[in-house]
Formats: sequence, C-alpha cells, structure tokens
Amino acid sequence: MKRAEAGAGLPEAARTRARRCGHRLFFIRASIVAGCAIAIASTGRAGSDRVPDPENGPPPAVAAGDSVAESRALLGRRLFTDVRLSFNQRASCATCHDPDRDFTDGRRLSIGADGRSPARHTPSLWNVADNASFTWIDQGFTTLEAQLRVPLTGRDPVELGFDADAAARLAADPAIAGLHRDAFGAEPLGESTVIRALAAYLRTLVRRDSPFDRALLWDDAAAFGARERAGMALFFSERLRCSLCHAGRDLGGPTVTSGEVIAPVIHRTAVSGAATAFRAPSLRFVSRTAPYMHDGSLDRLEAVVDFYERGGGPGAERLVPFTLTPEERAALLAFLESL
Ligand code: HEC
Ligand code: HEC
Repeated sequence: MKRAEAGAGLPEAARTRARRCGHRLFFIRASIVAGCAIAIASTGRAGSDRVPDPENGPPPAVAAGDSVAESRALLGRRLFTDVRLSFNQRASCATCHDPDRDFTDGRRLSIGADGRSPARHTPSLWNVADNASFTWIDQGFTTLEAQLRVPLTGRDPVELGFDADAAARLAADPAIAGLHRDAFGAEPLGESTVIRALAAYLRTLVRRDSPFDRALLWDDAAAFGARERAGMALFFSERLRCSLCHAGRDLGGPTVTSGEVIAPVIHRTAVSGAATAFRAPSLRFVSRTAPYMHDGSLDRLEAVVDFYERGGGPGAERLVPFTLTPEERAALLAFLESL
C-alpha cells in the first residue's frame, strides 16, 4: 500500500508534534509507540471528523498523486453499496458493513443476500488494511483481495453471490461503466476488477481521529483525561494483560508494516464456550460497534469487561481472572470508549 509522507497535509505545529510523538509517549508501551509514526504516515487527513458517505461524501483519501488508486477507490466506493452486486439484487457489502454504523450491522450475526446468516458477527472495517490477516479466524487470508473473494462469490454461506449476470448488470450502467473505464481502462468488468476496486476503497477507510489519537498525535487531551489515562495504565498492566494480545496501532495485534506480513494474534477466549481460537480484533471505535466477539454474544463493553474479569470462558488461553474496583472499571471503560 502506498503511504502519504509522515505528517503531510497537517498544519506545521501538528507536523512537529507528529515527529516528536515517539518521545512524548513515554508512558505507553513500545508497541504503541512504534505504531505512532506509522499512524501518522498513513493519513494526511486525520483530525477531521471524516465519516464516509458512499454516495455524496468527499472523494476517498488515497496517497497524494496516486491516481490509479484513487479512480479504483471511487469505483469501489460506488460498488460497496450497490445491491446489483448480489445474485438477487437484495444485498450489498453495506448491508452488513453499514457506513452509518461504522461498517457494522448491529446484529449478533449478519444476514446474507439469501436470508441466511454466516456463522460470525460482522466486524467493522475502520483501518482494516492494517490487519496482518483477515476474518475472525483464517490465517490464510493475508491480502484484502484474497479475503474479498469470499463475501463476493462464496456459496456457503452466500453473502452476495456475485456472478456473470451481476457483472453484466453493472457493466450496462453507464455511470459504473465510466468509473470502471477510468479505473481499469479496457479491462472488462468482472470478479477481478470488482475485487481490486473494493480493496482500493477499503484501503481508504483510515480513521485516526478518536480522543486517543488526538491525545497521542496532536497533544489534544480535551477528551482524554485522567480517567482515560488510568484506564490505559490498566489496559497495559501485568494484572489485566489486555495488551498481551491487543497491541499495535489498532490494539488488535500485529499489523502489516511496509508490506511486511506479521502473524496475527489468534487465541481461544472461549466466549460462549467456543473451542476454537479467534483473532484478537482491532479495538478502534469499539464503543460504537456493539455487539462484540466473533459470535456477537456480548452485547455491551461492560459485558466484555465482566467476561475478562472472570478470566474468559472455561479453558481460555492466557487469560487470568482479576477484580476491578468500581473506579477501575469506569476507567477501563473510559479508555475503551476513547479508542
Ligand atoms: C452477509 C453479511 C456480509 C456481507 C454482505 C459482506 N460481509 Fe464482509 N464480513 C462479514 C462477516 C460476518 C465477516 C467476518 C467473517 C469471518 O470471520 O469469517 C466479514 C469480514 C470482512 C472483512 C475482513 C475484516 C477483518 O477485519 O478481518 C472484510 C475486509 C470484508 N468483510 C469486506 C466486505 C466487502 C467488501 C463486502 C462486499 C463485497 C462484504 N464484506 C460483504 C459480513 C458480511
Ligand atoms: C489472550 C489474548 C487476549 C487478551 C489477553 C485479551 N484479549 Fe480481548 N480479545 C481477544 C480475542 C481472541 C478476541 C476475539 C474473541 C472471540 O471473538 O472469540 C478479543 C475480543 C475483545 C473485544 C471485542 C471486540 C469486538 O469488536 O468484538 C474487546 C472489547 C476486548 N477483546 C477487550 C479486551 C480487554 C479490555 C482485555 C483486557 C482486560 C483483553 N481484551 C484481553 C484476545 C485477547
């Protein structure tokens, strides 16, 4: 992925702070500090409250001057919400990854175009391109392009069921055909170009303007006060051990850096008694994406904290029980809400 130059597009004062960011954050573990420079490098526009509106919003943000990525992202943004992608024209990516719900659907388990549910809960797509691997479980999908083939064309379950008819339907729409020509020249519209366009769009879903980011990158601690700081200390403490698995710039385990692939963190928390290990997900904007876990079985962040206090489910790996005072619980929740 092409990255903007560190701090490009930021005001001078913010750029200076951005360069110093590693030094200021002596109280945060090295894992986060390492992510700090990368976080800045990956966006020229952090700090603006950028909620993408697929139909009318500003153009997707891509590295300056990358016109190929930009035209593909424009097409991808358009396709993302288009129900003509699905075999029966009933569902689009946005049916489950609703941009107005931070790319989730608010359901425990989502519902595909054929009315059935995939076995898992829909994750948010904020900063998704940072992930070292995709889906809750599968370590085999290490690129967005590889992963996207599943929701687009998978048959068990059918999420969209994209096929030759769907491709022909889209190609017959002059607006789509025009965007497609800008993005791919004479290459015909099909599974390959649709996947590359959607992946280009997903790479623009970078958001680094939470209270945590503002404190981390812009020295703006207005919404990141003593309580959030106390919660952060708990999160990184030996007692709670959250950062054992939730580290890196999105607090979801290792991330892809400069194209280098690092193994994801996959552990068994035994939520709902599950015997399988799952990927530690990003915690960015987590307070807005309830319910939680791979099966959507925990409805609120309080329930997630209760779950960890008990040491996870029976036979969980690497989780130890702990007891929080009411103040500590409020602090940990405030920290999670600041992410
Ligand atoms: C029926 C609901 C549904 C639809 C439609 C759907 N998704 Fe998903 N998406 C999910 C679920 C559920 C997962 C988690 C899958 C898993 O872990 O096996 C997921 C996972 C993903 C991931 C991986 C995220 C991560 O952090 O690992 C990406 C990327 C993604 N979807 C993009 C898309 C795109 C693009 C489309 C349209 C082509 C789409 N999805 C359509 C429900 C859906
Ligand atoms: C041993 C690794 C590990 C540790 C330690 C850990 N987590 Fe997790 N976390 C995970 C995994 C794996 C999942 C997904 C589990 C699943 O869906 O079955 C998860 C899921 C979550 C979720 C749900 C996110 C979502 O979008 O659904 C939250 C919130 C969370 N963890 C917070 C914490 C907090 C707070 C702590 C410390 C008290 C913590 N975690 C400690 C591995 C860990």
